[in-house]
Formats: sequence, structure tokens, C-alpha cells
Amino acid sequence: MTSVLVTGGTGRLGRRVVRALAADGHPVRILSRESAAPPVPGADVVVADLSTGAGLVEAVAGATAVVHCATDPRNSRAVDVAGTERLLEAARDAGRLHLVSVSIVGVDRIPVSYYRAKLAAEEAIARSGLPWTLLRTTQFHGFVDDLLGRLVRMPVVLVPRGWRIQPIDVDEVARRLADAVASGPAGRLPDLGGPEVFPVAELVRDRLRRTGRHRPMVEVPLPGAPSAALRAGANLVPGNRSGGRTWQEYLDRRSPSRLPEG
Ligand SMILES: NC(=O)c1ccc[n+]([C@@H]2O[C@H](COP(=O)([O-])OP(=O)(O)OC[C@H]3O[C@@H](n4cnc5c(N)ncnc54)[C@H](OP(=O)(O)O)[C@@H]3O)[C@@H](O)[C@H]2O)c1
Repeated sequence: MTSVLVTGGTGRLGRRVVRALAADGHPVRILSRESAAPPVPGADVVVADLSTGAGLVEAVAGATAVVHCATDPRNSRAVDVAGTERLLEAARDAGRLHLVSVSIVGVDRIPVSYYRAKLAAEEAIARSGLPWTLLRTTQFHGFVDDLLGRLVRMPVVLVPRGWRIQPIDVDEVARRLADAVASGPAGRLPDLGGPEVFPVAELVRDRLRRTGRHRPMVEVPLPGAPSAALRAGANLVPGNRSGGRTWQEYLDRRSPSRLPEG
């Protein structure tokens, strides 16, 4: 069985990846900055920091694959770009292990700094000389849930006009990444989106209704290139929809009082 290191194995996606790999029988280690990170049963934690490189050599030692899920959108140059390069260097020094990574649909078309960092990380992986697999996906249910929660807290709910979103089941993404470990290096996989595409305004209206909030909602035309790319659907892959839970199924499973999970 492949011995797998999961960076970001404490995060929204990473902990599901750890679970999926453990279910497949792989020995799994989680790379985290915190030794007290919440343990996923059956997985050890190895302490390392991508932003400094501390602990990376020890973290990759003995692994035959790495599933790279760590990210920090607020510090993406240091973590997603330089951190990925540090991880690749440690992995090259350790041998020819398989680097499996995840990115976001549209990172090459939506000009925001986090997406530029994700694209730079993709490029570093592709030219690393290591065997690799990369999957771009649309936004996870829990991320969309957080976003809606923030939007409906505004006294007047402003929604960017023309934006759509294709929420995906994070367990489905985790399963694809675990399968990629088993199948071996495949380069860039076809982009993957959730089973449905929604106008953001529709999801906001639904959230207001479900939570009984009576707030005015105004659709505003946001200027700028990122907004234009989103209006053009650069974040969507309607022709490549995954299985897994639908948005409604996600909502049905989620208790309204609990934090979003998936
Ligand atoms: N969220 C989405 O909707 C979405 C959609 C498509 C693709 N993705 C991609 O999926 C991946 C996972 O996203 P996520 O939403 O699951 O992330 P997340 O929940 O924010 O988790 C981020 C993880 O990164 C780790 N991390 C942060 N800084 C680090 C550092 N300096 N050194 C080592 N580890 C560090 C954290 O681990 P510790 O705190 O334990 O150190 C944490 O486990 C990312 O590549 C993201 O771009 C996300």
C-alpha cells in the first residue's frame, strides 16, 4: 500500500482525503503546523510549516505519495507558491514520489491574487520533474455555505449581478484524489464541477427565506475583470458535472446551528 502524506490534512478537504485514503487501507500522515491538530482516526500528525520549510524533509521521508491540500488564501505567495516549491524540493530529495494536488476551476481566467498563486503552484508542479496529478474543482459546499452566511448578514444584501456557482460535494473531491493516488500519475485531470449550477442571487434568496431574514436584496453590476470573468462563467464546468451530494442534499444533512462542514 502507498504510504501517503496529506498536507492540509486538518482542513476542509484534507481531512476528507485522509479519511478516504485510510478507508482504502493506505498508511496516512497529516502535515500540520500544530502537533495538537485534531487527529483523524488512524492517521499520525507530522509538524511542518510550508511558509518556512521547517519540518518538510522529515514530513516527506518515507512517503510514496503526497496529496497536497494545504493552502492559505491570505498568505498565498508564501504558502501556496513558495511553500509548494519547498514541498517539491523536499519531495525530489526524498525520491520519485507521486504528487497529487488540487486547484480551482478558472485560476487561469479569473485575475485575483489567490488564483494567480494557485496557477503559479500548478505550474511549479508541472515542471517539477516529479510524477504528478492535478485536479481543478469548483467551490465546495461548505465554502459556498460560509459565503452565503456572510452575504446575508449585511443590512442590505448586495449580490453581484450575473455570478453563478457550481457547488461540489467535498467528499466527492476527496474520493477523486484518493483514487488518483491508487491510479498513479496522470497529469492534469479533466476539471470537475458540482452537479448543479446556480445563480448566486437564487442561493442568497433561498438562504434569506430559510433563515427568516427580511432584508432587501439588491443585485449590483460589479465592475472589473474578475467580475467580468465570473459573469462569463470562468468558474464553471457545466459540461463536467460530478456525482456526489447535491446542494439540497448537503443542506438537508447540515444542522442549521452547526458550522458548515463540507
Ligand atoms: N474551498 C473551496 O471551495 C475549494 C475549491 C476548489 C479547490 N480548493 C482547493 O482545495 C485545497 C484545500 O482547500 P480547503 O478549503 O480544504 O482549505 P482549508 O480548510 O482552509 O485548509 C487549509 C489547510 O492548509 C494548512 N496550512 C495553512 N497554512 C499552512 C502552512 N504554512 N504550512 C502547512 N500547512 C498549512 C492548514 O493546516 P494547519 O492549520 O493544521 O497547519 C489547513 O489544514 C486548496 O488547495 C484549495 O485551493 C478549495
